[in-house]
Amino acid sequence: MKATLAKNSGFCFGVKRAIEETMKTGGKVYTLGPLIHNPQVIEKLKGEGKKVVKSINEVDKGTVIIRTHGVPGKVIERAKKKGLGVLDLTCPFVKKTQDYAKEFFDKGFKVVVVGEKNHPEVKGIVGNIKNSIVIENLGDIKKIKGYEKIGVVFQTTQSSERAKEIITKLREKCKEIETANTICNATLERQKTAKELAKKVDLMIVVGGYNSGNTKRLVEVCKCIVETRHIETEKELEKEWFENKKHVGITAGASTPGWVINNVVERIKNEF
Ligand code: F3S
Repeated sequence: MKATLAKNSGFCFGVKRAIEETMKTGGKVYTLGPLIHNPQVIEKLKGEGKKVVKSINEVDKGTVIIRTHGVPGKVIERAKKKGLGVLDLTCPFVKKTQDYAKEFFDKGFKVVVVGEKNHPEVKGIVGNIKNSIVIENLGDIKKIKGYEKIGVVFQTTQSSERAKEIITKLREKCKEIETANTICNATLERQKTAKELAKKVDLMIVVGGYNSGNTKRLVEVCKCIVETRHIETEKELEKEWFENKKHVGITAGASTPGWVINNVVERIKNEF
């Protein structure tokens, strides 16, 4: 059986930077929420003494790390006021999305964020502006009623297909609509190469955290094309998935470390 790893898979620039900078930071270090959506990496960071906290209320001294997903500006202000060090590792692509949303708001647009309403990135974007609307799926479009002009931004890890679908529907609802395409390049590249590979294989394995937005999107994209399985580590691979399969494709979310991907590839090659 042949196994092929997608060209663009695993750590993106934002995640790589966040892990490197966090590892370099000494003293008492706290990350506001898990640094990335990957339990294996979080375990490693814990071993290095980098603690995860839910709120800055839990920290009295030391450095608070803002993860790639970003936070509303008021959270950073509060940490500084408390005398804490702040290392802001918000991915520049997320920052750009926050800025676009603010710009739309300042111009008098109703701000619409296409993304998962409970995802920290989306919470960070909407936390900076008043009365924005989050659209998770086509059904949510009914929330858009009576607005003259809307400004739309996207969670950086949305799928381009879903974004196009939602924009088409939104155009029918408003006189004036401005959009900022804020889906990040790493997401687009990973989705594109995963799709290309999915067309050539008879099973896709997507590796990444179950709570990782971009990994879930990769699963959605591949599922439309071929049988697809989502796993976090090689231990979850099951023999029967590979029966009668000739060619297996593997891809991984932007928060999946190389060693986890390698373990999956090796187990597939050696055991199935
Ligand atoms: Fe940034 Fe995109 Fe990665 S938003 S953290 S480069 S998936």
